[in-house]
Amino acid sequence: MPFCDGVRLKTAYCKAQAEGFAFMANNVAAPNILIGLLEAYAEADSDLLVQISPGAAKFAGGGDKRAGLRSLSALVRELADPYPICVFINLDHFTAGELELIAEAMDDRLVSSIMIDASQEAFEENIRVSRTVVEKARGTGILVEAELGKIKGVEDEISSDEALYTAPDEAAEFVERTGADLLAISVGTQHGVSKGRDLELRVDLAARIRDRLTESGLNVPLVLHGTSGLLPEQVREMIGYGICKLNKDTHYQYVYGRTACEFFAAHAEGIIPPSGVEDDVANLFARGDWSPDKKVFDPRAVGKEIRAKVREIALVLIEQAGSAGKTLREQREGH
Ligand code: G3H
Ligand code: ZN
Repeated sequence: MPFCDGVRLKTAYCKAQAEGFAFMANNVAAPNILIGLLEAYAEADSDLLVQISPGAAKFAGGGDKRAGLRSLSALVRELADPYPICVFINLDHFTAGELELIAEAMDDRLVSSIMIDASQEAFEENIRVSRTVVEKARGTGILVEAELGKIKGVEDEISSDEALYTAPDEAAEFVERTGADLLAISVGTQHGVSKGRDLELRVDLAARIRDRLTESGLNVPLVLHGTSGLLPEQVREMIGYGICKLNKDTHYQYVYGRTACEFFAAHAEGIIPPSGVEDDVANLFARGDWSPDKKVFDPRAVGKEIRAKVREIALVLIEQAGSAGKTLREQREGH
């Protein structure tokens, strides 16, 4: 079974910590992104971490978040099956308003890990909510990521106008009291389209957080959100300071939009009727001489291009994370 559970994911993070690499955590908003990722990760011999956000679930379910989450999880698990790598599913930025859905995802083993994001709440409330999810996960093997600090920008249904950097002492108290398996920290990245060049990245703070946690015997993997637009050297530096998971969403959204845009611009004449021709979409141009070209308007035509481009960019990002060639496949096959 290529879909792998939280126990295997924990092993993957331990390996990453021991060997100094990380995983890109890839948000999937459309099936063509998922297929491009599967192809890239299998080619690179890297395990794959796929993320489903509440917004992506709602969209996939035509407004029904629960149906969308169940179907996206099933899609990932089914499509992953023939690939020779471990594929993990993480719920991304689920909030206190979604505890029922989180519980269902755990009970039905739809995921390998869950991020509970109560970072908009005050410290004590963030601890209380995060701890509730950790307690619910007990005995399931599903890992829980919690966040401390605020990341500037908009990600799906979460937005913040300002950054609130994570304080090292609070981070230790937070992990101790919540029992979270992973900690998402705020050290200057931003959700959305950001320019690594202009970010005030506090690598020193990431290092202090990692040291403070280690001092307390809390060697949890650290997570960086909002990594689209980071420069390769910034990614490398962050991995050197204990970051094991780098969340990417916007970058794939851009690749998707850009590829579709170029494809449709190049093939517009096969899709849009020339001037003077009646725009008779309702009858599929059945009355006139002009016909659209099925070879270019079939969604599979642009879909193939999107898959290929996502694959190409994902291969670059896998190299940045250093996860190529690190699959736990052997262990998976041994079970
Ligand atoms: O949780 C997902 C991310 O933090 C993605 O951030 O959209 O800036 O890549 P991004
Ligand atoms: Zn995020």
